[in-house]
This record gives sequence, structure tokens and C-alpha cells, in this order.
Amino acid sequence: MAEPIPMNPAQSEYIELIAELMTIRKRGDVPKAFIRTYGCQQNVADSERIKGMLKAAGYSFTDTPDDADFILFNTCAVREHAEDRVFGNVGALKNLKRRHPSILIALCGCMMEQEHVAKRIRDSFPFVGLVFGTHCMHEFPELLYKSLVDGSRVFVRDNDDKLVHEGIPVERDGRIKGWLPIMYGCDNFCTYCIVPYVRGRERSRRPEVILAEAREMIESGYKDITLLGQNVNSYGKGLDPRPTFAGLIREIDRIPGDYWLRFMTSHPKDCTRELIDTIAESEHISLHLHLPFQSGSDRILKEMNRRYTREKYLDIVNYAKERIPGVSLTSDVIVGFPGETYEDFQETLSLIREVGFTSLFTFIYSPRKGTPAAEMDDPVTDEEKGRRFRELLDVQEQIAAERCASMVGTVEKVLVEEKAKADGVLCGRTSGNIIVEFPGDDSLIGSFCRVRITEARNWILRGELACSEAVQISSINKST
Ligand code: SAH
Ligand code: SF4
Ligand code: F3S
Repeated sequence: MAEPIPMNPAQSEYIELIAELMTIRKRGDVPKAFIRTYGCQQNVADSERIKGMLKAAGYSFTDTPDDADFILFNTCAVREHAEDRVFGNVGALKNLKRRHPSILIALCGCMMEQEHVAKRIRDSFPFVGLVFGTHCMHEFPELLYKSLVDGSRVFVRDNDDKLVHEGIPVERDGRIKGWLPIMYGCDNFCTYCIVPYVRGRERSRRPEVILAEAREMIESGYKDITLLGQNVNSYGKGLDPRPTFAGLIREIDRIPGDYWLRFMTSHPKDCTRELIDTIAESEHISLHLHLPFQSGSDRILKEMNRRYTREKYLDIVNYAKERIPGVSLTSDVIVGFPGETYEDFQETLSLIREVGFTSLFTFIYSPRKGTPAAEMDDPVTDEEKGRRFRELLDVQEQIAAERCASMVGTVEKVLVEEKAKADGVLCGRTSGNIIVEFPGDDSLIGSFCRVRITEARNWILRGELACSEAVQISSINKST
């Protein structure tokens, strides 16, 4: 088994220095941190590492900014709306800082890698003391220490050193579901997307490090592990010898235990039949494929630089349906990309109908400064984009409802995650990531159960326990 990789010694020393410092500076018994995460699971995973470093430095965590000595927002730049929310919520911290001047307010993540955003923070939010981009996360202990002792504002970004930094401690948010990053960055440059500019070039973690982390998660009781990357299918680029993604998940699948393995995001241009075969033949990989198509029109796909056609997309989807009976397909779609005609949009709707997705993440195109699409002509009005968006939601709602209704009467394997709102009701998910609610005892939380589906309400299933005891995943046929 691979030895755990130690943290960079310089950063470990800063953690110790912060711990000493905080015994003097905190407001309560122990210093408290409030962390709010925006955006995708990559950011959630980064925040879990930042929390790991804070915990090592002696911090505890609070859900109330008012109680915190350190406040950090980990930000997302993917759409304008995400950025506006961050600016709004940061603005609201001004009074808090006035009341408690010793609080350190910090911002990190994707937004902070954009020069114009860092400038706006510097000029308009003087109460923000520390700003660091995604590439500087591994230096967080040093940056935090400097801002604590110095009192002057610290701004760092654009330190794209192309390295993968291992050994950072992790404080995970959940105990049942966990995130496992396998690679960082993106090389695809879809024309609408800011991610490659704020996350840098693709770099992969070494397979033995990923396997060790997966093993540790499984041994400590995680039941649902999601491997993360912007394009997991190109995992391994730059490593020697080059591992493949299918090879990596086959290795993880061999780790014994009761767990599901998921991954996101799979890019259709690199999604191979070998990957589909691997899912079909595996013991632990969930029967779920998240495969963003973005648009059903070949013309728009080309403008988006997605590098696949509608035909290629449908080909891989049909192969997945054939090899993995009952596979649950989910996707991302953008409405109103510059120059999208009503006919292009109809192609998107027809693809949605043809595939029959379990659920969709739907977005109205949002221009991102510095991306090629932001410079393209965009004659379609916001009102028209809004109309298309609602039309798409109506179509998808009906498809999801039909899919859920077709599951009534079946017995599903469900991972119980938490209590539902109603008393005595539990909430879990199927292998295909569909929410199931059923009456049951809290002691079942964190275990796999068989649930007979009795009712479908839009995209939520209701059911009843089909056998009264929690069951071992290995004793259930994967396809049930
Ligand atoms: N790497 C993943 C997606 C990461 S971003 C992939 O390629 O599938 C998540 C989703 O946000 C994208 O799939 C896309 O649907 C959406 N998105 C990205 N940039 C956007 C923009 N400028 N406007 C609207 N939606 C966008
Ligand atoms: Fe963005 Fe495309 Fe990369 Fe996904 S694959 S992160 S959409 S550039
Ligand atoms: Fe947002 Fe960054 Fe993720 S821009 S979607 S948090 S990679």
C-alpha cells in the first residue's frame, strides 16, 4: 500500500505558527472559522482541504458568521449569477467587520483567479483581508499566517505551477457521501466556459495516491464516493506510464467493501465504449452516467468547441443503454448560446426526448469575460431565451415524471442518507441518483436498504422497506 504523502514541510510549519498565534487572538475558547462554498464539487472538495488545514491549526467550525474569527467564501465564476451572489454576500459582511474588527475576511476560489474581480475586491471591499486563487490553495497556511500577523491585505493569484499538491489534510463535510478529486484543471476550452482560465491546465493525481485515499474512505465507512475532474475521461494525461480512467476505476472497484462509486464529469468526446463496458462489468460503479451534451444542434456544438456531434453523443448513449440496463442518464444543457436559433433549440428538445434523462442541470447562457463566446453576436433577446428555458423545463419535467412513474412496483437498492422533512421518514438515493423517501428508523441512515417503490411524485420516489434489515450491498444484485 502507498505510504501517505506528507504535507509540504514549510506549510506544516505555518500551521504550527498559526496554532500558537491563535491561542492569543481568538474571541472564544478556540478560534472559529466559517466557510461558505459556492459552485461545483471541485470547490466543495477544495473547501474540505482548506478545512483540514484550519483544523490542523486548531480551528473549530461554526455555521454562523457572527461567531467566527475567520470567514472564508470559496467562490465560483461559471455564471454571472454565481458571481453576483458572492459580491452581494461579501458586501453584507461589512457591518460584521465593523462590529468585530479582529475578524479576518477572506475570499478564494475560481472568481479570484480573474484579474478584474481581484481588482474590484481590492478597490470596493477594503474589509476583505485575504484573497487567493485556486492555484494558491496549497499555500493557504502561509497566506493565512501572513495576513494574521501583518494586518496588511494579502492578494495572490495566477500562480499556475502545473503541480499537483499532495498531503493536504482533509476535513470532509459528510460521513456517508464523499468527494475524491482525481485531477484538476481543464484543457478543453469550450467557447462559453471560464473554467480553463480559472483552474489552469489539466493535471492528474497519481493512481496510487487516489487508490490510497479511496481505500481510506471506504475503510472509514464512506458508502458513496464520487471521483471528481472536469473531464475524467482524459485522466492520466502527463503521467508516465499513462494510466486510463477505465483502468483507474477498475482498480478502485477491486477494493472490497459496501460502497458505490460515481464519477463526474465525463466529456462525451472522450467517453469510450471501454468505459461503458467497465461500468457494466464492475461491482461498485453506480448505474449512473452524467454526460453533459450542452446542445442538440451540431452547428451550436461546433460553435461551442465541444468536439462531438449529436450522432456521436447518441451513439455512446445508446451503447450505454444496451450494456447497462436501467442506466440513469443525467446531463447539463445550455439554452441561448449566442446565435442559437429556434430550430437549434428544437434539436436540443428532440435530443432530450430521445435520450430520456433522469434529470438535467439547465442553464441559460451567461457571457464570461475573456471567453470566445462572449465576443460572438447574440441577437436573441433575454425574454426569448427565458421562453425557451421554460419550454425545456416543461419537456424535461414530463420525461422525469414518466421515468419515475415507470419505477413504481420495482424494488430498488437505496443508500439512506438522512431524515426527510416529515417525521419518521428517511431520504436516500438509488444507484441512478434518484431520491427515494420511505418510512423507517433513523438507525438505517448510512446503510443500504431494499425499498419497494409505491409512488412517484415528479422526480421523487416514495416507497416502503422491502426487507426490514439493512442489507449488504454485495448481497444485492447490482442491477436490481
Ligand atoms: N467540465 C464539465 C462542466 C463544468 S461547468 C463539463 O464539461 O461537462 C458545469 C456546467 O455549467 C457546464 O456543463 C455548462 O452546462 C454550464 N456552463 C458553463 N459555462 C457556462 C456559461 N458561460 N453559461 C451558462 N452555463 C455554463
Ligand atoms: Fe468548461 Fe468545457 Fe472544460 Fe467542462 S470541458 S470545464 S465545459 S471548458
Ligand atoms: Fe464554478 Fe470553479 Fe466549479 S467556476 S463550476 S467552482 S470549477
